[in-house]
Amino acid sequence: MNLKGRSFLTLKDFTKEEIAYLLELAADLKKKKKQGITGNSLKGKNIALIFEKPSTRTRCSFTIGCIDEGGHPEYLGKDDIQLGHKESVEDTARVLGRMFDGIEFRGFKQDTVEKLAKYSKVPVWNGLTDEYHPTQILADFLTLQEQFGKLEGLHFVYVGDGRNNMANSLMIGSAKMGLHFTILAPKVLWPTDELISLCEGYAKESGGTITISDDLEAVKGADAIYTDVWCSMGEEDKSAERIALLQPYQVNHDLFAKTGKDNTILLHCLPAVKGKEVTEELFEEHADVIFDEAENRMHTIKAVMVATLGEM
Ligand code: CP
Ligand code: NVA
Repeated sequence: MNLKGRSFLTLKDFTKEEIAYLLELAADLKKKKKQGITGNSLKGKNIALIFEKPSTRTRCSFTIGCIDEGGHPEYLGKDDIQLGHKESVEDTARVLGRMFDGIEFRGFKQDTVEKLAKYSKVPVWNGLTDEYHPTQILADFLTLQEQFGKLEGLHFVYVGDGRNNMANSLMIGSAKMGLHFTILAPKVLWPTDELISLCEGYAKESGGTITISDDLEAVKGADAIYTDVWCSMGEEDKSAERIALLQPYQVNHDLFAKTGKDNTILLHCLPAVKGKEVTEELFEEHADVIFDEAENRMHTIKAVMVATLGEM
């Protein structure tokens, strides 16, 4: 599999086989790291990390993943560079593309990360936009594989804000990889019809299914339940409205009981607002797997950089 030179902007651009390859590479890099073995596939490579929004996991994963492979990461926070304030995205992209070998971008518009890729002409990796969070899905899927030994055929239910970056990207990834994926959310927070039908097309090919529901009974049979914050970064003003809408969809013991199973796992991309989208008690019961998932951000992000930029 050769992904050299490719950008990682949304999972829509990747086939089932390519996603499976990235997960395999991540599992291998994880195994090696546990044995104290790091690599030098990014030796001599300079990597720009642009953050318009804050981050713990994504920033640290890109930084450590890059250094572990012998590269040099450079953090560029929102007040450090001219991007979008004094200089167009196109111009910043052309400058960075002449200095850096790869660029990570976390921010608001998907259009910005797409433009960075188009104008910099180096691999660009989406570290989260309002619309998508594709690197997170790789960590989620690696965790599912570790827990269940497979992805295909798993019943995976996302509960909460059904039209945010996580819901969108989980739906795309699940549809590509053949999971039975459900979004459980109030109707006003459902994904766009356009994205649903695109994903239904992917699911048809992979043998997966897509279900969108506002009925709590939709968690029945779930192997894994996933949730995320009710207000994403940049939506802090919507707090009261979201609490009113999403309180009935809180992930708690009552909801877990509705799965009818006693081995359903809980995933959360983090950061979590305990007491809102998930109860503290339930979160703590599932903390081991949730923090495996957080650790897996690093191994999967490393895999993306190695596959698209590394000398292998
Ligand atoms: N899950 C995730 O992207 O976390 P950060 O916002 O801390 O990067
Ligand atoms: N939906 C969340 C994800 C954080 C990783 C946000 O965008 O803030």
